[in-house]
Amino acid sequence: MSRTSKPRLDPIASSRAPGKIILSGEQFVVLGAPAVAMAVNLYSRVEAWRSESGPMEVSADIPLQIVDEASKKSSVEKNQGLLEPLRLAALATLDHLREKDRAVQLNANCEIPIGAGLGSSASITVATISAVAKSRRARLEKSEIFKLAFVPERYLHGKPSGVDQATCAYGGIIQFRRPARIKRLSIKRPPKILVCDSGVHRSTRALVGSVVKKSRKEIGRFREHLEEVSAVSNSVVKSLKDEDTTDLGSLMNRNHELLRQIGVSTPRLDKLVTVARKAGALGAKLTGAGGGGCIIALVDDPKTRLKVERALRKEQGTLYDVSVDPRGVV
Ligand code: MEV
Repeated sequence: MSRTSKPRLDPIASSRAPGKIILSGEQFVVLGAPAVAMAVNLYSRVEAWRSESGPMEVSADIPLQIVDEASKKSSVEKNQGLLEPLRLAALATLDHLREKDRAVQLNANCEIPIGAGLGSSASITVATISAVAKSRRARLEKSEIFKLAFVPERYLHGKPSGVDQATCAYGGIIQFRRPARIKRLSIKRPPKILVCDSGVHRSTRALVGSVVKKSRKEIGRFREHLEEVSAVSNSVVKSLKDEDTTDLGSLMNRNHELLRQIGVSTPRLDKLVTVARKAGALGAKLTGAGGGGCIIALVDDPKTRLKVERALRKEQGTLYDVSVDPRGVV
C-alpha cells in the first residue's frame, strides 16, 4: 500500500475492472483443482468520493434481469442486492487503510450481465476496493485487492475459491489455485472466444453449495474428477503457450463433459454448446458456476465465427464478442 502526497484537484476517484471467463476448472477449483481464467473487455466502473461527513452512501445503476421461472417472463429491476457487497467492500478497504472516517459515497455501473458467470460481482467488488482506496489517496497492490475482495465475495457466494476476483484484479490470462496461487500466463496469441448468454441467470452460491455437498458424498468419483480436471487445466496452459487451438478446443469439450457429469450443466447450455460445435467451433463449454449463464466457444477463423454467431442467435442466445483485458483493475 502506498499513499501519494500530491493534493488532488478532482475529488472523484474512479476505478474500472474487467469481467472474466473461465477456460477450465470452474467448480472443481473450489475443491482444490487449478483453473485457467481470462479477463475480458466487459467492464464495471465505480466512482468514489469523500463526502463532507455522515455515513457511507452507496448507489448503483446496475439493471438485473429477473426471469420468473413459472411464467418464463423476464423483467428488469434495479439490482439492490448488490449494494450490501459494495458497502462491505468499502468498509473492508477503509479498515485496511485504518481510516476511521466512513464518509464515502459510491456509485457503480456495470456492463457485465449479472448472474451470468462472467464475474460481474467480483469485477464490481474489485473496482470498489480500488476506487475507495484512491478516494483516500492510497493505491493498493493487486494482491491486497484480491484479499480484501474475499469479504464481499464470501457474503455473496458462501465459500468462493477466489478465482473470479483474482482474474478481475490481475487481468490477462491466469492460472489459479486456491487459496492464493495466482500465476499470470504470458500468451502471445490469446484464444478467440465467443461468449453466448443463455439468458437464464442464477445463484453461484447455490450451485457451488450443491457441488461441495455432492463431493462429500461421492468421494471416489470426485477424486477421479479432480485428477482429470487438474490434468485438463495443465494441458490448457500448454495449449495456450503452444497456440494449439485444436487441442484447446478438445480440452474445453472434455471440461464441459465433466461439468455435465457433476450436474451443473442444463439442457439449454448443452444445446448451445452442441450448436456452437456443429457450426464449426473448435470447442465449447459452459463458463462459471453453470445452472444457466453463459457458454464460451473457441472460434479461430472469421468465416466460421459468423456461422457460429448465426447458429447461436437462432437459439436466442445473446452474443458477446470478447477479447482479453490485459490490465485488470485500474
Ligand atoms: C465462478 O465463476 C467459479 C466457481 O468455480 C466458483 C468459485 O470458484 O468460487 C463456480
